[in-house]
Amino acid sequence: MFKLSKIMPAEYNGDLLVHLVRQSLKGAPQCQDSSVAKILKRTFDIGDFKGKEGETLMYYPAPTAKGQHGPRRILMVGLGKEELNRELFREAGGQIAAVVSKHNISKIMVVVPEEIPFAKDELAECLTEGLVLGSYCFEKYKTKNEPDESHGELKEVSFFAGDDKAVRKGMKQGEIAARAATIARDMANEPASHWTPAHFAAYGKELADKFGMACKVLSAEQMKKLGMGGIIGVNQGSDQPPKMVILEYKTAPKAKTLLLVGKGLTFDSGGISLKPSGGMEEMKYDMCGGAAVLATMQAVAEAKLKGVNVVAIVPATENLPGPSAIKPGDLINQYGGKTVEVINTDAEGRLILADALAYGIKKFKPDMVVDVATLTGAVIVGLGHHRTGMLGNNDELCDQLSAAGDHAGELLWRLPLDKEYTKQLKSDIADLKNVGKRDGGTITAAAFLKEFVGDTPWAHLDIAGTAWNFTKKSYVPKGPSGIAVRTLFELVRRVGKKQKTSAAGKVKGGGK
Ligand code: BES
Ligand code: ZN
Ligand code: ZN
Repeated sequence: MFKLSKIMPAEYNGDLLVHLVRQSLKGAPQCQDSSVAKILKRTFDIGDFKGKEGETLMYYPAPTAKGQHGPRRILMVGLGKEELNRELFREAGGQIAAVVSKHNISKIMVVVPEEIPFAKDELAECLTEGLVLGSYCFEKYKTKNEPDESHGELKEVSFFAGDDKAVRKGMKQGEIAARAATIARDMANEPASHWTPAHFAAYGKELADKFGMACKVLSAEQMKKLGMGGIIGVNQGSDQPPKMVILEYKTAPKAKTLLLVGKGLTFDSGGISLKPSGGMEEMKYDMCGGAAVLATMQAVAEAKLKGVNVVAIVPATENLPGPSAIKPGDLINQYGGKTVEVINTDAEGRLILADALAYGIKKFKPDMVVDVATLTGAVIVGLGHHRTGMLGNNDELCDQLSAAGDHAGELLWRLPLDKEYTKQLKSDIADLKNVGKRDGGTITAAAFLKEFVGDTPWAHLDIAGTAWNFTKKSYVPKGPSGIAVRTLFELVRRVGKKQKTSAAGKVKGGGK
């Protein structure tokens, strides 16, 4: 769908030609195309368009003299006058996507300004992300569109750019990352009855077949035998069998191994500690961590990232009340032997993650672990819907993740994890109980997980506030955001690159 243009913008006869324009400190915004520059001057003088960030203006040029109709529409997208950054181009991509959707457009050309103080590969990458993410809609279950609701669907985007190589690289990277995020959105949009633990398992296998990865799915019997009392306990009220989906992306045996664990709770009713009914439908999204982890694997495999091994584990189950459901006061044995007193069956995410973390660390001996989960309502109280909560036992990993999040436009905020918080988890009859006091709920949840990771560098992302109802952005529609996919993809890239540079360093040093 994304390609480099071989024809000049003025000769383009597609649906829409886009120019990105910066606000000028003096006078009208500039544009390399003289006819567009004239329009910009006029609209500036009239006062209708200054090129401010987020401002757009569309006009319909007259057919060219030779009788060709040229571009049907020309859209100018303002970039403002501040220093350019990656997010600005994603937002611009989202704004273009909105115009495309409104006007029944399918073919567009974007002119990458010749003189713009920003790396062309990153510009193309972020614009592509914005276009893909902003064009997303989930209409699978709508049987018919209202006539005035019908909208355009992007089929072809051509970039007109000077630096073809850089732009091609950026486009590819952006498309892989953003498409993966839309896959995570798709999984989350499915009703819980259409996205069960078995669907996670099937998708893991599909990815494995498509990209030559190894996929193993542990059944309830296997998990029972292994002593995974957390996921088995949470699953007791459901008649959908639980699954533990394990996907391995291997490059070199000596490369670092990153373990990703994602909460795959396909519906969280709270169990016997039943949630209030208002808004409970949103708990179909309680699998967004698992979706993010699988979608990341897809992006990693598609991009053929080198110098890093990645293992993804998705513990998947429903949490429902039923005659056999786990009850408050019950005791479970987690993988590895720790006993847990279940005080609140709605604090189920940590129980399934504990099994997956302990098992993954024992089996794969990863160099670092990141888990992603819609774990606590408390993170929404603390951070709202703008930043994901991050906690961990390793500064280097947290810093690396934080930088990856900034790069992806998915901001994180680290919360403390002092050992004092763990005291709240003391149980009278077991090693731990599954909830602390109400206050600092995000931290006590992470403190619980910390008991299962030992000394392995580990970071936990609580995406309860960002997996849906995410902060308003032009490229994030209502519903699930696909959060964490692009951050994790970037983290894997960084780990792979670091490996490459340190390996190169070693060779150099060894040669001395
Ligand atoms: N899935 C929820 C967390 C959640 C709440 C996500 C709201 C998104 C929006 C989790 O399983 C849960 O219910 N957590 C409880 C923990 C409590 C019982 C200690 C919560 O946050 O209320
Ligand atoms: Zn819950
Ligand atoms: Zn939950």
